[in-house]
Amino acid sequence: MNHKTSSVIKSHLLESCKKVSLGLKVKAFTIVIFGGAGDLSKRKLLPAFYSLYQQKLITRFSILGLGRTSISDMQYRNIAEAAVKKFIPKAFKKSIWQKFSSHLFYESLNITEKSSYITLCSRVHEFFSKNQSNNLIYYLAISPEIAPEVVTMLALRNMCRHQPNAKIIIEKPFSKDKKTATKLNEDILQEFDERQVYRIDHYLGKETVQNIIFFRFGNNIFEPLWNRNFIDHVQITAAEKIDIEKRGKYYEANGVIRDIVQNHLMQLISLVAMEPPVGFDANRIRDEKAKVFRAIRPFTQKNIATNIVVAQYDSYHKEKDVTKNSKTPTYFAGKFYIDNWRWAGVPFYLRTGKCLANKNTEIVIQFKNPPLKLLGRVCDIIAPNTLTISIQPQEEISLSFSVKYPGTINRPNSVNMLFNYADTFKIKLPEAYERLLLDCIKGDQTLYARQDEIELMWSIVDPIINNPPKLSIYKAGSQGPKQAEQLISKDGRKWRDV
Ligand code: BG6
Repeated sequence: MNHKTSSVIKSHLLESCKKVSLGLKVKAFTIVIFGGAGDLSKRKLLPAFYSLYQQKLITRFSILGLGRTSISDMQYRNIAEAAVKKFIPKAFKKSIWQKFSSHLFYESLNITEKSSYITLCSRVHEFFSKNQSNNLIYYLAISPEIAPEVVTMLALRNMCRHQPNAKIIIEKPFSKDKKTATKLNEDILQEFDERQVYRIDHYLGKETVQNIIFFRFGNNIFEPLWNRNFIDHVQITAAEKIDIEKRGKYYEANGVIRDIVQNHLMQLISLVAMEPPVGFDANRIRDEKAKVFRAIRPFTQKNIATNIVVAQYDSYHKEKDVTKNSKTPTYFAGKFYIDNWRWAGVPFYLRTGKCLANKNTEIVIQFKNPPLKLLGRVCDIIAPNTLTISIQPQEEISLSFSVKYPGTINRPNSVNMLFNYADTFKIKLPEAYERLLLDCIKGDQTLYARQDEIELMWSIVDPIINNPPKLSIYKAGSQGPKQAEQLISKDGRKWRDV
């Protein structure tokens, strides 16, 4: 490519980037966060809003934190400041913080008490006039069991369906099984319309996860190979180095299957396996994802024993709020089949766990070997082609293929073709929560899950939660339990190192 062509391409790229970022600028809004001083708010929500403000993507807005304790707006701002400094230290700038924090407010709220909602309602109306907008979001950063009560109380003040610009964000895990998820949804839909309901899974806000769709359907060269004729198997890994980070109560109630498998891993498998959607809007994409969930082969007691491994890291029982003989799994590995025309017979190996050797989320597509050993013996050592979509901490896509090693001996050598986000675009990728919050403010549900998806994902994992295989133990900081190795090695395959 000559210099002139390359600079034309670059300036075209910059032009389209400009358009995209302008498109992200959003209108005024008020957000009410239930659990405003809780763990999620501190770690993710408040830093995300600060960062959006710093990037000038939000300007006219009010954030109202709600919680049981009675603290002043000023005390809340101090809590928020400490959180932003802790979780995004490099981004923190005192001068910006001072301006941003004037948008933060706090109200103590007793979830079950009607009078609390009278105060809440009048504060929300204050913000409506201040921001000259009734664009309103309720963020339920609280346990799903109390969500119906909140919704009922809001409805008594006519703050749900009667507020046409109100939206409600519900955190994952959306309930604890299919039955309770269906009930929770019915309760919410009594008072809100589906267009107002945003079921969040922050994996869908990750740039690299969204890129799966762009990569698959924005190119013509991969899609013809993306099926059972060419793909040997798929590995999806979401390995974490961290432990449960003092969230003993939450983890004991949920375990790895509710925490990660039912939502993050299921979303990844659906994006890898879905058919091309007929359009790029929320419902067309959700339709295709739902079809994948419907086609996943159901787990029965028999195939759970052979296809699923659950395990716990060896020091888990020493964590705060964890019982000594807890059977809660912190690791999951499973072999899934998608019984449809495209994927029949192709195993999808999924695994996730806490306290593993590395943090690594990736999808590896391993292709079948060439049909004939044309090059004689040397083909025995030809490595299969793999396409690796690295989601984090590396944000890249690489394709491995064989070439001839230079010299007189015929020796194949596996090499990589690499696309790396940071090197190519020279920009910091937006945080998942930033993107998702912006979408909700704008009223775009594409990256949020629809109720049928939620229920289908539960129906895949419910049988495993109800009939778990024997719990294994693995060493903290390792690659996981040996039973997970065996799960894949008995098929003559091998996990990639985490
Ligand atoms: C959350 C889980 O949904 O995802 C946590 O509750 C987990 O247990 C986290 O650590 C992982 O997210 P990420 O973005 O770091 O992969």
